[in-house]
Amino acid sequence: MNILVTGGTGYIGSHTCIALLESGHSVIIADNLSNSKSESIKKIIDISKKEVTFFEIDVTDEEAVDHIFRNHEIDGVIHFAGLKAVGESVEKPLEYYYNNVVSTMVLTKACQTYGVNRFVFSSSATVYGDNTVPFVETMSLLPTTNPYGETKAMSERILTDFANVNPSFSVSLLRYFNPVGAHESGLIGESPNGIPNNLMPYVTQVAKGKLHNLRVFGNDYPTIDGTGIRDYIHVLDLAEGHVAALENQTEGVHVYNLGTGKGTSVLELVKAFEEANDIEVPFEIVDRRPGDIASCYAETSKAKRELGWSAKRDIVTMCRDAWRFEKNNME
Ligand code: WQD
Repeated sequence: MNILVTGGTGYIGSHTCIALLESGHSVIIADNLSNSKSESIKKIIDISKKEVTFFEIDVTDEEAVDHIFRNHEIDGVIHFAGLKAVGESVEKPLEYYYNNVVSTMVLTKACQTYGVNRFVFSSSATVYGDNTVPFVETMSLLPTTNPYGETKAMSERILTDFANVNPSFSVSLLRYFNPVGAHESGLIGESPNGIPNNLMPYVTQVAKGKLHNLRVFGNDYPTIDGTGIRDYIHVLDLAEGHVAALENQTEGVHVYNLGTGKGTSVLELVKAFEEANDIEVPFEIVDRRPGDIASCYAETSKAKRELGWSAKRDIVTMCRDAWRFEKNNME
């Protein structure tokens, strides 16, 4: 199939493009490079040994999106493009709502105009809010603690309502837990602009000496060691989950958790990283980060049952692959 991947030069997008190409699909990437670099295109080609088509556009630009659909036979869309920094979304709500929600509407409208009936959406476990773990797809969503999470919940609603009145339209809403790690080649991985918000890139930069020490945001949560628990999933497992969703898609709306089902605390992750890579990661305990929840991990049986997909890579592999990329990344 010929797949339009928005945000395809980004962290999860680039890994998914490689998985798509290795599964025999062809890929058109649309990305505005606001949080990624065009070098990703060459790396995707080098790793997959396949060609890709690239458009440097903003997917909120209706005319630019229409140009792609008008000039290419598109069989499906995977929509990654979006702003994704939780803290930043609190500071810049309008930018987040505009970028993340309008892009979903522009793409859905283009699918309607050009008869494209397969849509995979990059959603997030954030939409569950502070629910009871493990999070299950059938749960009622609670208000999230930030505009970023609300843009994901709104986009899910838009796609659901559209699919409900367009019977041939199929949409998979993929709720990611915490993507970490990198392609085993060490050529692509997570290199956020500026100081990382997320735990794993912060840990790898401390290990490299680029950052002084890790601040652990609170050790007074009701968890095994007081620190926050998350469901870390290898980005290659996540990428393979997208291919499985795309290839198994039937009409209607399908919601899937993409997680491992295993919770890991901050201190457990730090210990796993140190042991996997035989390196020290100095840290200090500081106050909780506003908006954080204590525990977040997936109930994973639905994706296994319906897509035949489950995460295969363990936390040691995630730590090793993340570290290999950091060492290779000269930024
Ligand atoms: C993980 C744990 C922190 C940094 C967010 C988004 C989610 C998704 C992934 C986009 C928490 C602790 C972190 C640090 C720390 N993003 N931590 N020191 O907040 O679970 O999820 O990123 O889709 O939507 O909400 O990820 O990596 O920021 O935090 O102690 O310097 O690590 O408190 O317990 P989070 P995270």
